[in-house]
Amino acid sequence: MAALPDNPLEIAQRFLAGSGQIQSELGSGTDGIVYSTSRPSAIKVFAARQPYGKELAAYSRLAEFDVSELCGHNVPILFGHDDETLVIEMSRVVPPYVLDFGKSDVDICWDFTDEELEARLLEQAEDFDEYWPVARDIYYALRHYGIYYHDLSPRNVAFVNPRD
Ligand SMILES: Nc1ncnc2c1ncn2[C@@H]1O[C@H](COP(=O)(O)OP(=O)(O)O)[C@@H](O)[C@H]1O
Ligand SMILES: [Mg+2]
Repeated sequence: MAALPDNPLEIAQRFLAGSGQIQSELGSGTDGIVYSTSRPSAIKVFAARQPYGKELAAYSRLAEFDVSELCGHNVPILFGHDDETLVIEMSRVVPPYVLDFGKSDVDICWDFTDEELEARLLEQAEDFDEYWPVARDIYYALRHYGIYYHDLSPRNVAFVNPRD
């Protein structure tokens, strides 16, 4: 994992350029750190150019088709980005949602057979428990838009758990 810049908060603030404030940290993971803003929006500061480019390509594709929801899951809408500081601004979402496209590919088919793909997908099934059929549908709904989603996990594809 690439290291985050020393000053992600400053980078996020500079991106806003005085047209809003950073409110709090929404979360972080392998590719970046995400802040909520007063606009309102979410700003993700990336640790490296490659996941930034992948996520921007996926959100651009989703924007092209006006996708803000998939299988009942909220999908962040692309608001803006900066190629120099590796920042993406998007709408803030609440579960159920699907987000985090830093490891997905757009329009890149790879050499898996359907069986190999199903086997790979099934490795994630246990993590989702009874929610797996919907998580799997989301995977294929993204593929419909040419997005190959390689990071299927309950952190990125979140459900509202009635037991919570
Ligand atoms: N648009 C958003 N709206 C609300 N919360 C978000 C948003 N984007 C990210 N988050 C929160 O921040 C966490 C980390 O974001 P994510 O994009 O998954 O980063 P990483 O690529 O580093 O895993 C997510 O698990 C989620 O809790
Ligand atoms: Mg994540």
